[in-house]
Amino acid sequence: MNTVTANYKALVQSGYDQCAAAYHESRRSEAGRELGALLSVLEDGAAVLDIGCGAGVPVAKTLAERFRVTGVDISDSMIRLAKTNVPTGTFMRSDIMSVEFAPSTFDAATAFYSIFHVPRKEHPTLLRRIYEWLKPGGYLLCLLPHYDEETYLDEFFGSTMYWSSYALEEYIHFLKHTGFDLLEESFVGSGFDEAVVAEPETHPIVFAQKRKASQ
Ligand SMILES: C[S@@+](CC[C@H](N)C(=O)[O-])C[C@H]1O[C@@H](n2cnc3c(N)ncnc32)[C@H](O)[C@@H]1O
Repeated sequence: MNTVTANYKALVQSGYDQCAAAYHESRRSEAGRELGALLSVLEDGAAVLDIGCGAGVPVAKTLAERFRVTGVDISDSMIRLAKTNVPTGTFMRSDIMSVEFAPSTFDAATAFYSIFHVPRKEHPTLLRRIYEWLKPGGYLLCLLPHYDEETYLDEFFGSTMYWSSYALEEYIHFLKHTGFDLLEESFVGSGFDEAVVAEPETHPIVFAQKRKASQ
């Protein structure tokens, strides 16, 4: 990791450490449509990884009602909140690019509003890492960025925050190239309570599956 990338990660980490409580307070408490596709296919007791789990609400908390959830987040403050909000989950403070899991550990992985905080040149490697961690036939449900923007800095809950992304079509290419089959593409609105959002937003969500060994 070069110095610039390391600095952006430090910015994201300290930003979320500082704004974790405010973010959590503004986040919608219901997962709603975000998780629908996954909830309908996964067996109870499945092992699910939530990438950039934040305070654990609503995603990890909803998943933990039926599944065994592991959440990873770069922010200590977020991990502390997640442990309180989802006592049955397993939560780890780590950069998702350095955490280690054995191959074929998870039946599914989710990532909501988190991938765009990782420097974009790492995104193809992140998708390959997720692919390795999934069992054959395992699912990935992730919210992806729209825009091609290598570095975008803005104020976020009182902190300077960093975003980095390719255009959506690039991710579709990376996913297929990695070995995922695309099952569904849809859009969701902002993850915040309506009172918090100044302008309506939409975010692409992709539901994909790791090919089974025999395919
Ligand atoms: C906008 S919040 C989303 C939290 C949660 N997924 C949700 O739906 O509310 C983004 C989260 O991604 C985490 N994050 C950002 N970069 C990360 C990285 N490199 N590794 C792990 N977590 C990261 C942040 O700390 C933050 O909690």
